Amino acid sequence: MATVADKVVVPTMQLERLFSMKGGKGESSYANNSQAQARHAKSMLHLVKENLDLAELQASDNPFVVVDLGCASGSNTINVVDVIIKHIIKRYEASGLKQPEFSAFFTDLPSNDFNSLFQLLPPLGNYGARTEECVAANNHRSYFTAAVPGSFYRRLFPAKTVNIFHSAFSLHWLSQMPEIVVDKKSSAYNKGRVFIHGSSAIIANGYKKQFQTDLRSFLSARSVEMKRGGSMFLVCLGRTSLDPTDQGGPGLLFGTHFQDAWDDLVKEGLISSEKRDSFNIPVYAPSLQDFREVVESDGSFTINKLELFKGGSPLVVNKPDDASEVGRALANSCRSVAGVLVDAHIGDKLSDELFHRVASRATSHGKVLLEQIQFFHVVASLSFAN
Ligand SMILES: C[S@@+](CC[C@H](N)C(=O)[O-])C[C@H]1O[C@@H](n2cnc3c(N)ncnc32)[C@H](O)[C@@H]1O
Repeated sequence: MATVADKVVVPTMQLERLFSMKGGKGESSYANNSQAQARHAKSMLHLVKENLDLAELQASDNPFVVVDLGCASGSNTINVVDVIIKHIIKRYEASGLKQPEFSAFFTDLPSNDFNSLFQLLPPLGNYGARTEECVAANNHRSYFTAAVPGSFYRRLFPAKTVNIFHSAFSLHWLSQMPEIVVDKKSSAYNKGRVFIHGSSAIIANGYKKQFQTDLRSFLSARSVEMKRGGSMFLVCLGRTSLDPTDQGGPGLLFGTHFQDAWDDLVKEGLISSEKRDSFNIPVYAPSLQDFREVVESDGSFTINKLELFKGGSPLVVNKPDDASEVGRALANSCRSVAGVLVDAHIGDKLSDELFHRVASRATSHGKVLLEQIQFFHVVASLSFAN
């Protein structure tokens, strides 16, 4: 007998046409569930500034171009672009060079909720006769802006036009699921699981290869687009273990209560086991070595810094002793990043059921969860190799 979810028609779409963080301003939206990323980003600002200090400044009539790759729809991207431009302006002031005008491009996949993002943007400052006036104005932005839709695994900008690339918490998203992991006939078919965590070496290797292929494409595109003297700052989820089947914090997020909730739907007959098995979270948290291998073999960029940075918990709660708040936070956090994929796979109603189960399972383990779940990030500061 066909189960409810088997009747949901999911058009076969490439991941990049479909994927986004949960848009809007609702309870499980990315805008309302990205305070952890905001905290982690804040703790790394000194590294961002160190990277900016390596960028060459020039007196030019052309705009100074800053790009955030994987901007999503919350205020984090706006905050970091603001920090970047203010820091570069300070450097221009100290250098005595004529200050250029600034452009900032917010880029993400086409399904991203750019409308919600642009509603958060402060108005343009007084970009009139004198640049200093607009810089001084609080609550105003000192840059022109536009959205650029498209995958950062391909070209997004004309050659040699970008001074600073920044990307936070995005590069662990694969461009697609590795084919061997989704092919039912393959020995690497991820049967019974919805994530790599706790799977076998052959499956993990499929994910690793996809991550490294994607990162290579990313670097190749940026090496064409970046201006000489530019700089690039990248942050993505990373792991401390050498073993890729141990994904650390992301493993707890997608491999425990989320996994169990999928199993619940199967046991309750709401979806078939095949339906669960054909769902996979396209995330890979690399080790430093996984990341380094690609940058070095690509050869376009020098590594100024490459380290694993402890971000902390992905859960932000007001009352840590309230297990149900912890449970809700985990479910909302999971839904804000993976909800769009789940909705497309089993439909909105069953997605509600799934995340309801994630919340209640996480509530039963609230205390342990808060103690155990920690995210680490690979942080890379890159410039052109000479
Ligand atoms: C967790 S969000 C990070 C948002 C933001 N940078 C921040 O700090 O809060 C990850 C973003 O990466 C984007 N992303 C994933 N794969 C992408 C790709 N191939 N090209 C462009 N953006 C991508 C997602 O759509 C999502 O908006």
